[in-house]
Amino acid sequence: MLTSEPVQPVARTAEASAASQPATRWYAALTRGQWAAASVVGILAIIGAATIVVQLTRWFLGLGFMQDFLATYPGETPLPEGAPVGLPAWLGWQHFFNVFLIVLIIRSGLQVRTERRPAAYWTPRWSKGGQGKISLNLWFHQSLDILWLVNGVIFVVLLFATGQWMRVVPTSWEIIPNAVSAGLQYLSLDWPLENGWVNYNSLQVLAYFATIFIAAPLAAVTGVRMSGLWPKNAPALNRSYPVEWARAVHFPVMLYFVAFIVVHVTLVFLTGALRNLNHMYAAQDAEGWLGFWIFVASLVVIAAAWIAARPSVLAPIAAVFGKVGR
Ligand code: HEM
Ligand code: HEM
Repeated sequence: MLTSEPVQPVARTAEASAASQPATRWYAALTRGQWAAASVVGILAIIGAATIVVQLTRWFLGLGFMQDFLATYPGETPLPEGAPVGLPAWLGWQHFFNVFLIVLIIRSGLQVRTERRPAAYWTPRWSKGGQGKISLNLWFHQSLDILWLVNGVIFVVLLFATGQWMRVVPTSWEIIPNAVSAGLQYLSLDWPLENGWVNYNSLQVLAYFATIFIAAPLAAVTGVRMSGLWPKNAPALNRSYPVEWARAVHFPVMLYFVAFIVVHVTLVFLTGALRNLNHMYAAQDAEGWLGFWIFVASLVVIAAAWIAARPSVLAPIAAVFGKVGR
């Protein structure tokens, strides 16, 4: 009796809510066989719809005026004269640090979002009367952010110091029709010729530009607004930029990053994986396996950091910069 007592009210609420919203739970009645059948029908429908889209796009691209369009706008926009060729080693390092940090930033951000009772708290060493106390996860998130911002600033400075910016910043309006052209070619499964060593296709340029120059600054500007760095005693400033706005934008920006990463990494692997990995991880335009193995090593480093990033390891590091307590 002792054990059944606390269970009963829960069971009753579940029944009551099921009775009050019968329409939301119809699928609970499906048998395993029906689930399997429904899944097969669903998958076939998706494949069917995708096939129709691909065939329609191919038919459309075959029309005379579209052939002219493709000839004028092949999907990549010529670079300004004197643009550098190839990816230097510094860019590969920056890209690696960025991937390393953003994986942990996304994880710690999601932990901040979902944690109910943080395992530990951190209070800045310079705090007066315990002000600025945050969860250990948020401390980790913000510490990674500082490193990520430093890496990002160095990246952008080097982009402009070396001319590499020309490869990731649109320099002519032709980029728009060229991006449409590249998009249609992707949809037709007859993909634009890849030559990332010399010039990215226009859809790639727009995606890289949006990531570096729009999404990253947005994450920073909204994140700093929510952080302890932001001045509390500035009523006029805080009224003109309410913290609720920052909160409302910060999370969707993370969703953008996740979507970008999924599509980006998928395309890296589907459009000549070994060559692409050599570009970014071995700073060379070759066909061999060197870039692939450096990439694998980088994944091992990231996995090790992922595993190490637990409270028992983070707490002593956080304690160097402040007070850690439960
Ligand atoms: C394991 C994950 C990743 C892999 C394997 C990867 C791989 C690559 C490769 C191979 C290129 C060069 C493409 C080419 O030569 O055609 C590239 C470029 C780029 N990637 Fe990634 N990437 C990864 C994650 C990320 C993440 C997380 C971001 C940003 C949030 C990112 C942003 C970029 C940008 C901005 C460029 C263009 C850089 C430039 O040329 O200045 N990548 N990536
Ligand atoms: C300079 C960069 C950044 C700073 C200063 C920053 C700061 C913060 C702060 C202070 C919070 C806590 C918000 C709260 O109190 O509810 C937070 C939450 C979060 N951050 Fe960041 N962040 C930065 C970059 C990023 C990036 C690049 C991502 C992902 C790509 C990210 C993902 C998240 C997520 C998912 C949350 C939880 C949001 C929620 O609860 O709705 N952050 N960040």
